[in-house]
Amino acid sequence: MIKTAVLTISDKGSKGKRKDKSGPVIIEMLSELRAEKKYYNIIPDEIVEIKNELIKLSDRDDIDLILTTGGTGFAPRDVTPEATSAVMEKDAPGIAELMRLETIKITEKAALSRAKSVIRNDTLIVNLPGSPKAVKECLEAITNVIPHGIDILKGNVTEHN
Ligand code: MTE
Repeated sequence: MIKTAVLTISDKGSKGKRKDKSGPVIIEMLSELRAEKKYYNIIPDEIVEIKNELIKLSDRDDIDLILTTGGTGFAPRDVTPEATSAVMEKDAPGIAELMRLETIKITEKAALSRAKSVIRNDTLIVNLPGSPKAVKECLEAITNVIPHGIDILKGNVTEHN
């Protein structure tokens, strides 16, 4: 099982002013990814707080994958991609590219997400947009590639077959 942290990034959600619907959508879909929830939190759109959370989680031995939702758009407070880039050790752009490539066929608004996918330590960090609909569409687009990617990252695959 892929040990996964789910991080909802939302000013309103973190203050309890809006119920988080997107985090639970991710958690519900984890079984399709061969993944299990190890951690779930809601934090505000504050770059330092997001960076600290990503560093803390990717340094943990029991986290292989971090899925964030929210803060990827063009609004002034949207800083999730910048926080993700700041903690990046290796870029892994193909996953974010695949999300946009596939889901642009559903809505061209997919082009408005600046989501990143990167590697830190042996942890994959993937940003998803904020709406429950977008989360579902984007996760479906990457479901097939994530498990193989994590296997390679963890050194569980030595030969390609
Ligand atoms: N991607 C998909 N697949 N489906 C969507 O409905 N919504 C877009 C985009 N990505 C959407 C999507 C919209 S309207 C915005 S504003 C951006 O994601 C950024 O969302 P965020 O700031 O909540 O992360």
